Amino acid sequence: MGIIKVLTVVLSVGLVLGHNHNQQKEQDAKYNWWQHEVFYQIYPRSFQDSNQDGIGDLRGITSRLEYFKETGITAVWLSPIYESPMVDFGYDISNYTNIQPEYGTLEDFDALIARANELGVKVILDFVPNHSSNKHPWFIKSVARDPEYENFYVWEDGTLLANGTRVPPNNWLSVFSGSAWEWNDERQQYYLRQFTYGQPDLNYRNPAVIQAMDDVMLFWLNKGIAGFRIDAIIYIYEDAQLRDEPRSGATDDPNLENYLDHIYTRNQPEDYGLLQHWRQLLDNYSATHDGPLRIMMTEGYASVAQLMEYYEDANGVQGPEFPFNFDFITELNENSTAADFVFYIQRWLIYMPHGHVANWVMGNHDNPRVASRFGPKTVDAMNMLLMTLPGIAITYNGEELGMTDYRDISWSDTVDQPACEAGRDNYKWISRDPERTPMQWNDGLNAGFSNASHTWLPMNPNYRELNLRNQQVARRSHYKNYQSLLKLRQLPVLRNGSFVPEVVNRRVFAFKRELKGEHSLLTILNVKNGTEVVDIGDFIDQPNRLSVLVTGAESQYRVGDRLKAEAIELAPYEGLVIQLNKRK
Ligand code: GLC
Repeated sequence: MGIIKVLTVVLSVGLVLGHNHNQQKEQDAKYNWWQHEVFYQIYPRSFQDSNQDGIGDLRGITSRLEYFKETGITAVWLSPIYESPMVDFGYDISNYTNIQPEYGTLEDFDALIARANELGVKVILDFVPNHSSNKHPWFIKSVARDPEYENFYVWEDGTLLANGTRVPPNNWLSVFSGSAWEWNDERQQYYLRQFTYGQPDLNYRNPAVIQAMDDVMLFWLNKGIAGFRIDAIIYIYEDAQLRDEPRSGATDDPNLENYLDHIYTRNQPEDYGLLQHWRQLLDNYSATHDGPLRIMMTEGYASVAQLMEYYEDANGVQGPEFPFNFDFITELNENSTAADFVFYIQRWLIYMPHGHVANWVMGNHDNPRVASRFGPKTVDAMNMLLMTLPGIAITYNGEELGMTDYRDISWSDTVDQPACEAGRDNYKWISRDPERTPMQWNDGLNAGFSNASHTWLPMNPNYRELNLRNQQVARRSHYKNYQSLLKLRQLPVLRNGSFVPEVVNRRVFAFKRELKGEHSLLTILNVKNGTEVVDIGDFIDQPNRLSVLVTGAESQYRVGDRLKAEAIELAPYEGLVIQLNKRK
């Protein structure tokens, strides 16, 4: 072979390889972008007000998009922004394809997407399929028995007793307490509503409903979003025979939702089928349009076995990219031991079907914040945990600052519907208002959230100290810890490395992330309120040198400090991320 020929062969092989490499990169960017993403939840009402009405809005969010870039966040999901009477603050939708006027217009939304694209931030929208608002034209027409909408909702007669009292069709309960059936005088029937009276359940046994919701999805996909967070998915279908649910034995109060074992109203087999249908819709859309794979993440509090069916069913049919993993909210709390943490982390990984991606939700607008659930001293350690576990991390706005619940909101300032229904004596511990107070940007008027004289929820008074600005100027802070963790997540070892956990003792656990050719990382957490000195020599393979990569804001350690594996001292609730350097 002449030299020219050899060169040509080498060159063309190089080109092909280069080409394949680029193609692979493009494929990854399109199809795998979400697999190691941090999804940041924005609660639009509380994020940033731009027009001084005391309510957050779209222009406010757009004005803050640079914050994500600065923080290292490249994907956000927004709680509902659609037209709504706000009985459940946007989870009661009266027009699925328009923006709530308080939040802005469709043009504002387009501008938000355009700016987000410029900054490389993907936007996911909340999709609320289980119920609309009772003010939705569909419901109004259904009440009036308009033939096109007559069966859009779940209507039943109930029974009229001999003594003249009317009783609902069965014993089903609302998630928020009391019967799930609401009488409608005009239509002279009960409608099913598993949440508030203002949220009638749509009837997914009517194909016209599925069609209507497909159209809603397409409408928003065409606006350039990267996918949906699907709300309340486990409630979509109910038993067609409307059978009574058995008692759970958990409480004697027949009005509480846990009075019954919800075998006929939650996690019905048809739920999975509907999600598989939407998965196809999204996959087809992605295949025929530029831009990233449009994904689905689903919200449902269910058993681990039930949740795994969402990833894919027994026949391997794919559902959403991932069902939210709420174990850090529902299974673990300030009383949990190190073993509890490792157990629940492993449980998800063990149950998860092969080829899928784990995810970890640290907070949301329905549950107390990390600082209030696990304690204010745990904030940095919990973010270390969230960001160094394998897979996807989900942060609720304000958790990067360690914001706390404002539990002392007065009865007269309380607006969360279930809390209002619970009454003056009981509202406080039920209310979701405490975790929904506005974002604390700085120590100015209303923490920089709004210039209005009154905000829709009161500000948490601790904003004067606890705010982003303070944490940006401080040498060390929760925010800076969060930022360094997001940077660290770029490392291949955190993206692709194996995961090996260890319960060091009742109070301390650790895990290694390892990848061939890369330095291993070790995350270690003290989950209790005492100082610990632990020996992890056996766990990490002695010839390693340990150097600190990330510390909490209050830590005695500095980045770069060397540690001895036989005696690592951890302050109460301290977490550390450590690099393991092989000794030559
Ligand atoms: C989801 C939402 C919650 C809402 C409920 C009804 O659980 O996260 O805020 O109240 O669905 O839509």
